[in-house]
Amino acid sequence: MADGAQTQQAWDRAGILSLFDPSTGTLDRRVLADEALYRLEMERIFARGWNFICHDSQIPEPGDYVVNYIGEDQVICARDEEGQVHVLLNTCRHRGNALCRAEQGRAKSFVCSYHGWNYALDGKLIGVPGQKAYYRDDLDRTRLGLHKARAENYLGFWFATLDPEAPRLRDYLGDVGRTGLGMICAHGEVEVVDGIQKNVIACNWKIAVDNLFDWYHVPYSHGSANTAGFLDIARILHPKNQMVMLGEYGHAIGGPGIPKELQAQIDGMSDAEREAASRAQADTGLRIRPRAAVELMGPTGVRSMGHPNIFPNLWITLGGLQMCLRLPRGPNHTELWWYTFVPKGAPAEFRRRVVRQAAHVFGPAGLLEQDDGENWSQSTRASHGAVSRRLGHHISMGLGHDEARPAGDGSGAYVESVIGEHGQRWLYRAWTEWMAAADWAELEANHSRPPLGTV
Ligand code: FES
Ligand SMILES: [Fe+2]
Repeated sequence: MADGAQTQQAWDRAGILSLFDPSTGTLDRRVLADEALYRLEMERIFARGWNFICHDSQIPEPGDYVVNYIGEDQVICARDEEGQVHVLLNTCRHRGNALCRAEQGRAKSFVCSYHGWNYALDGKLIGVPGQKAYYRDDLDRTRLGLHKARAENYLGFWFATLDPEAPRLRDYLGDVGRTGLGMICAHGEVEVVDGIQKNVIACNWKIAVDNLFDWYHVPYSHGSANTAGFLDIARILHPKNQMVMLGEYGHAIGGPGIPKELQAQIDGMSDAEREAASRAQADTGLRIRPRAAVELMGPTGVRSMGHPNIFPNLWITLGGLQMCLRLPRGPNHTELWWYTFVPKGAPAEFRRRVVRQAAHVFGPAGLLEQDDGENWSQSTRASHGAVSRRLGHHISMGLGHDEARPAGDGSGAYVESVIGEHGQRWLYRAWTEWMAAADWAELEANHSRPPLGTV
């Protein structure tokens, strides 16, 4: 069986909703292992939601393209001669061959390597060898263009969905998703450094996602980084100043937050004073944002120094320097794609330093990701044992002890407290709702709005 997974029953609505109990924080381990659930995720989460595809800086010129994924559907994102961006399924309409084999590049059109069908940058079928001689002109090329996803851009970040019923990207992101992307752009325009780092970890994609809200593991899992002097955990953890933001459709941000009183002092500072204050305490991981950042992140978001996840699988790291896609590859494997950002036009030496630092923290050579990957793999593996898979995961930290308050335009809420597991619970609650809904109409009618009051 593919990927060593177990096939379970066909899942109905009640069965899916029973997989996570938000009132106790109990997660059924089959969520991390079941093949049928995984197949359903491809349809109900990835094909339905908005997926990050690329940043504007990766495709600046006509003909530029990158290849990415919507779940396991491979897509080409290409800029045409008029500058329009198209996201096209990378599968020939003749016999399904992949058209584009390079990860990125510049092209005039995409020619299939099997029989030579030729597609324009906007997906139109413009050439068929033997159209007259073999097909006897009996082929309607207008119906055989590449399948097109809906593509929209926010702040230079291109997303795509395969569901015509999905809301507009801006509405999908809501306050919390927009805060997350705003975090990357808070200090000015950015560009992606060439060379996306890609590696595979033997874990379910969701355990890699839920870990990004998990500040509980940091002192223990990453103790060796502390011992080696690579990281001063006590300085970056801020365990009592944690702020979790909960957004519609499952977006969330978890990690340290700037307390309101401190933010009130920051509000009175000029941008130059903010930069100087950031430099003075660089080892805390807090970089105070410029005044204009409030436009992008809102008055609550601007206090967040945590990790955003744009549902389902786009992680933005601390400070917005890096981004990681957690691409599912079967229930037991996840491909991680690491993007590093630098200020637009940054000098080569600065880029080199940023890349070096980034590569040493996350990605295949990253000290922290090696710690994390081991734990994720073993948690995934132990979801398959005949008896161990019947035991739940206990995600109950802070449950019933904290208050959620409204954030931003009302599409988000926030919780300020000590380290807890509110972000993880929000993720799995959203996951069950996405999975239980047959279509967007059902999801809109039944999904949880960000909570207010005791959480
Ligand atoms: S599969 Fe592409 S041309 Fe035949
Ligand atoms: Fe970690």
